[in-house]
Amino acid sequence: MANPRFGDIEACVFDAYGTLFDYNAAAARHGAALGDKAAPLAELWRLKQLQYTWLRSLMGRYEGFWQVTGDALDFSMGELGIEDAALRAGLMDAYRTLDAYPEVPETLATLRAHGLKCAILSNGEPGMLAAAVEAAGIGAHLDAVLSVEDVGIFKPHPSVYRLVVDRLGVAAERVSFQSSNAWDANGAAAFGFRVAWCNRFGQGQERIPEAPDAEIATLAELPALLGIG
Ligand code: LAC
Repeated sequence: MANPRFGDIEACVFDAYGTLFDYNAAAARHGAALGDKAAPLAELWRLKQLQYTWLRSLMGRYEGFWQVTGDALDFSMGELGIEDAALRAGLMDAYRTLDAYPEVPETLATLRAHGLKCAILSNGEPGMLAAAVEAAGIGAHLDAVLSVEDVGIFKPHPSVYRLVVDRLGVAAERVSFQSSNAWDANGAAAFGFRVAWCNRFGQGQERIPEAPDAEIATLAELPALLGIG
């Protein structure tokens, strides 16, 4: 159902990993080699990847998301006692070409058909994002792919969200921001976007300031929220 908080939206901006692209696909593709360690590896890898972005941001030691993702994988493989250089390379390779969630292409096409700008705002480096967009075949539906690389600090620093306003030329309150990460949703709300938390994983609300304006289970619910579905 249309939500009045989203009545005047000009641009829809999406987080990449976990929101458009399925980061669990990397471990799943190597499920045969990982066996019963596939699920714990996927979970720890993501957790450490995010922690390292926050820690590096606080330390003033920015490094690209590819390096951070590899560092997190090394930590996680070490914790789980997995020593396999070829498997490591395969997992990193898979991370470059993750699957898009099934509803993504059609949702983007619907939004664009209604005159909305669509963009990605991600911790990912431009090269990683370009590869993922190409593999998912969604490039034609996107007006911009924005990366934290341009500000040298990770989400949820406000300068990251400001990239959207600066690059798309759209006021913050005219932006609908979608993320499956509750902390990213809250960070975007703190900046001033309208925020739809795409709670794919049925997570609980984070106990940090701010809150999303709406919660949806998948991006397929977004057009209706904006009153165009
Ligand atoms: C991103 C991570 C946070 O794409 O999912 O920015």
